[in-house]
Amino acid sequence: MASRATSTNAAPLEPSTDELRGWGEAVLDLMVRYHEGLRDRRLAPSTTSREIRAVFGRALPEEGVGLAATLVEFEERLMPLARHNGHPRMFGYVQSPGVAVASFADLLASMLNANLTVWRSAPGPVEIERIAVEWVRDMIGAHAGADGIFVSGGSMANFSALAAARRMKAPIDVGREGAQALPRAMRLYVSTETHHSVAKAATLLAIGSDHVREVPVDDAFRMRVDTLEAMIEDDLRAGHQPFCVVGTAGTVGTGAIDPLDVLAEIAQRHGLWFHIDASYGGFAALAPAVRTKMAAFAKADSIALDPHKWMYLPVDCGCVLFRDPAAARATFAHQAEYMRVMDSAPAESFAFWDHGPELSRRFRALKVWMLLRAVGLAPLRAAVEKDLACAAALAEKVEASQDFERLAPVELSIVCFRHVPAQARRALDTASGAGREGVERRLDAWNERLLVALQRDGSSYMSNASVGGRFALRACIMNHRTTLADMDILLADLRRIAGALGEFQGWSE
Ligand SMILES: Cc1ncc(COP(=O)(O)O)c(C=O)c1O
Repeated sequence: MASRATSTNAAPLEPSTDELRGWGEAVLDLMVRYHEGLRDRRLAPSTTSREIRAVFGRALPEEGVGLAATLVEFEERLMPLARHNGHPRMFGYVQSPGVAVASFADLLASMLNANLTVWRSAPGPVEIERIAVEWVRDMIGAHAGADGIFVSGGSMANFSALAAARRMKAPIDVGREGAQALPRAMRLYVSTETHHSVAKAATLLAIGSDHVREVPVDDAFRMRVDTLEAMIEDDLRAGHQPFCVVGTAGTVGTGAIDPLDVLAEIAQRHGLWFHIDASYGGFAALAPAVRTKMAAFAKADSIALDPHKWMYLPVDCGCVLFRDPAAARATFAHQAEYMRVMDSAPAESFAFWDHGPELSRRFRALKVWMLLRAVGLAPLRAAVEKDLACAAALAEKVEASQDFERLAPVELSIVCFRHVPAQARRALDTASGAGREGVERRLDAWNERLLVALQRDGSSYMSNASVGGRFALRACIMNHRTTLADMDILLADLRRIAGALGEFQGWSE
């Protein structure tokens, strides 16, 4: 085998010291070029699946071409076909930019290849994960006794939390007897703005999407607490078992923060589990002005967080915290002889597999720990405050303009607005009833066209939201590289592209 490998340019499975150094230098040079050119890159490619397949072919390689040739292919062919989520004007979805220190942490995590299943598998890395989870807990102000684990992302954190909520609140041992043995349907309460991963988790856990009760929101897109109480009481009267209230600290659509203190109080009064989905907004608690709105983190039974969002870390890294770690154990602990822990000292017998759904687990904690150890909290806090300031500035510019209109309050770093051309503005001012609805529908269509064109253009990138039934351009500012000047460039890009699309005809009936 060895002679076959050396007869080609193929990279060896095990490089020599010199080869390893050469590979490292080549990759590092590539990374430096990427970082240097990031701001000037076209943000997203305009391409098709067929074109990409044509570039890469599909033959299974029997012999490799070597690392140098593969890196050229990566840089020249693959990189331009990615969307550059670290670009300072990537405002779509809830996308982390990635920080350089974490690129190295991910490299080192793969090098060490620690598998964080149980203490004995990786003593140092396990303790680092436990310390990093405590740091995350303290960063956001969760309950001092809370503990948890890193998971793949916010969806998995929500899933893990709901599994524990159901396990702890079920009147039977649902883990053993199964959901079909429940005497009454268990119901949970979310808002119409809650991320879909919560309903998906309920489906996967056989709670059933019919039992996910969507509470309406107020004008600021926060859960209406009066309606929540009424729905809980209705369900009790109808013979169901309410078991969990899910509040959101930063909704995915508009960034609204539910009235978490009131939700905590209602959950406690009715004996329900209180979960907070803080996947998007949780780390905004680093900013003192936001922290007070998230004081209820200390009262939550569980919290879903995403260090791969507003801690700027590259995917993947989510985190689930439990106020009572015994709840996670009761949910996830399983007995199997090949997994038996023989050490009786509590710390050294710690097993992540008893606290979450996964067995083999990557050393995700390394990038959390390295970021905080190497960079520290102060620059993170400053970057979060800068993102909040950018969002506030964008909202002000939108409000001060003649051709844009803000569609939702800006509580964190999401700004929802739309473009309203002068003709449409005149039509809106004069139309009423069905005529006005017609103009609104055309504005929806116009803004959708504008968004698609913006994404194709490649200078700035936004995604969309439905705000009170209207199509909104949605900017989520969550990138330490983004500056106030980027807010002006975004609006200029939208105006330039709107001009190029040409005036939408026939704004009034
Ligand atoms: C509020 C909220 N919850 C959950 C999620 C899901 O997170 P992930 O994509 O890490 O699974 C998101 C993603 O944007 C989110 O914004």
